[in-house]
Amino acid sequence: MIFNSHSPKETQKIAADLAHKIIKTKKGAVVALEGELGAGKTTFIQGFAKALGIKSKIKSPTFVLMKKYKVPGGTSNLYHLDCYRIGDHKDLKILELKEIFSESHDIILIEWAERAKEILPKKHVTIHIDHIDKKTRKLLITND
Ligand SMILES: Nc1ncnc2c1ncn2[C@@H]1O[C@H](COP(=O)(O)OP(=O)(O)O)[C@@H](O)[C@H]1O
Ligand SMILES: [Mg+2]
Repeated sequence: MIFNSHSPKETQKIAADLAHKIIKTKKGAVVALEGELGAGKTTFIQGFAKALGIKSKIKSPTFVLMKKYKVPGGTSNLYHLDCYRIGDHKDLKILELKEIFSESHDIILIEWAERAKEILPKKHVTIHIDHIDKKTRKLLITND
């Protein structure tokens, strides 16, 4: 599916709609975000997390690689990963992602997922964001 967004708010609305869809399935999910610096990956995740009732301000975990948030009113967690600083996928081993991926209720959002392709589970949602101009973004959402 292709969406055109004309503001950060609109990108967050698209993200919130996806979050609601995923929550309805009562299953976990892996969401792989692709797009250059400033495309709006973190902005998307902020809208997604807010829709799940997460109150913390989501920032890019560029220095910590991964952050974990509790989803209120349930047992699941939201993980926010940023692979910007990843050299190759072996760097990701330390995070024990396989274990996290197998936690069936958790939702994992990955920025710069193109750098972690080798370790992504087969089933995941891809959000590819293209920077069109200052305020316009094209979002391509695909289900693998
Ligand atoms: N339509 C839009 N959707 C998302 N972000 C937008 C949009 N228009 C402008 N922006 C701006 O682009 C920047 C996106 O930054 P960020 O979400 O941190 O990107 P990334 O995480 O991909 O590097 C923010 O400053 C945001 O305000
Ligand atoms: Mg970011």
